[in-house]
Amino acid sequence: MALSQAAALVEKVIGHGNNATTEQDLTNPARDRAKYADPSGETMKALVWMGKNDVQIHDVPKPRVVEPRDVILKVTGSTVCGSDLHLLHGSVVQMEKGDILGHEFCGIVESMGSSVTNLQKGDRVVASFQIACGECYYCQKKQSSQCEKTNSNTMEQGMYGGRTAGMFGYSHFTGGFAGGQAEYVRVPYGDVNLLKLPSSVPDEKGLYLSDVLATSWNCVVDTGVEKDDVVAIWGAGPIGQMCADFAFMNGASRVIMIDSNWRLDFVKSKTPKVELLDYTALPRGTSVTAKLKEMVPRGPDVALECVAGEYAKGWAHYFELMLGMETDTSEIVNEMITSVKNFGRCGITGVYVGFTNHFNIGSLMERGVRLIGNGQAPVHMYWEKLCKMIESGEIDPLKMVSHRVDISELDEVYYKFEKKEDGMQKVFVQTRFSAPPAPGTPALTTYKT
Ligand SMILES: NC(=O)c1ccc[n+]([C@@H]2O[C@H](COP(=O)([O-])OP(=O)(O)OC[C@H]3O[C@@H](n4cnc5c(N)ncnc54)[C@H](O)[C@@H]3O)[C@@H](O)[C@H]2O)c1
Ligand SMILES: [Zn+2]
Ligand SMILES: [Zn+2]
Repeated sequence: MALSQAAALVEKVIGHGNNATTEQDLTNPARDRAKYADPSGETMKALVWMGKNDVQIHDVPKPRVVEPRDVILKVTGSTVCGSDLHLLHGSVVQMEKGDILGHEFCGIVESMGSSVTNLQKGDRVVASFQIACGECYYCQKKQSSQCEKTNSNTMEQGMYGGRTAGMFGYSHFTGGFAGGQAEYVRVPYGDVNLLKLPSSVPDEKGLYLSDVLATSWNCVVDTGVEKDDVVAIWGAGPIGQMCADFAFMNGASRVIMIDSNWRLDFVKSKTPKVELLDYTALPRGTSVTAKLKEMVPRGPDVALECVAGEYAKGWAHYFELMLGMETDTSEIVNEMITSVKNFGRCGITGVYVGFTNHFNIGSLMERGVRLIGNGQAPVHMYWEKLCKMIESGEIDPLKMVSHRVDISELDEVYYKFEKKEDGMQKVFVQTRFSAPPAPGTPALTTYKT
């Protein structure tokens, strides 16, 4: 049995904490049809996790209102995130067969519980990837990703010394909630976890307020990009790409993107001001750090990690990861620490799960490098402001969107996104409830014949 599923069993044995005020482990309405499925018996298409490297489209029951603050959405748009790959690969623990994935989605309010008074049936809304209660210590500060009331996972508490909020489609480790890569989704505390989209913001743009836009914004401002800073970004995926734009908006004088494939050119074509560093094209014996010091005297002011801890570069970490001697490689973080100037800042937004070996704590301490965990991004802190920036045209989320696909093909799309095939960057996933493509957005691509 994969580690990911074994961890879920351990959690069952030790039991959850008693802090959560919303149902836990409701990752598929089929888990208890009498309690969780719509009485009509209607079914829907959903992307489910069936084991390591195995996701499938299944017909599952439509969800129903379970708690008074629930909202049931007809999903009109969803997408795949780099974080979904960590679930696909089984590197984020506590997955169970049949869990519905997806944490970035928008839709139309279909029904709601009796306590939801700020939304109407038919409202067009986007959900935050985290589930916040809106009332606890962290929620009052808009630090919604750290809500204390929506995740009672004991293993997370033990490993981290504290818990994150519950998250949609992101394992039982974060509460166990059915995600939005489906035709319908149940949104707990829907009165606070849904933002109304203005008519000038189509789904194809508004969807990305769920996660990628707020996460990239948080990465840049939380790490502290200042006027005239030189910023180096590891990872030219959607998160790194938006970080490049947001770094310039926050005053950066130069942005250097580090990756190893066509995505570097994709970002350059959208944001020509960026400079590129393809680490696979470096002369033998030249490290990323050496190259950066050549490009920037003393090194960049700021380094942003938009990759993840599961992707080893060298053999040592490859084996240590495989043998379970660590859960994350330290290679990228070490590159960031040694590359930045003395007293430089490094922010980690890519997902790290647990423990790492060979961490260069000496360089960090001696050179006064500030290493910042950006956290799961607190979407509620930024999404209203970012929505206004989309409306005014300051932010163009379409820059990162390469494809429109249909939910019926989403399993195949996962593998294409994973392998970066077919020029796939960020996708827009339509359902039978979606409006036709908004002007200027990609037309539908189909893969199944
Ligand atoms: N903190 C949060 O709230 C939050 C939210 C969303 C996503 N994330 C995380 O952010 C990360 C990026 O997300 P994404 O959707 O852009 O993912 P992605 O997988 O599409 O992109 C990651 C990129 O990193 C590149 N890469 C791999 N190894 C590298 C290395 N050694 N050096 C430089 N680049 C390397 C890959 O080629 C790829 O282009 C993921 O780990 C994701 O889980 C975090
Ligand atoms: Zn995500
Ligand atoms: Zn809360």
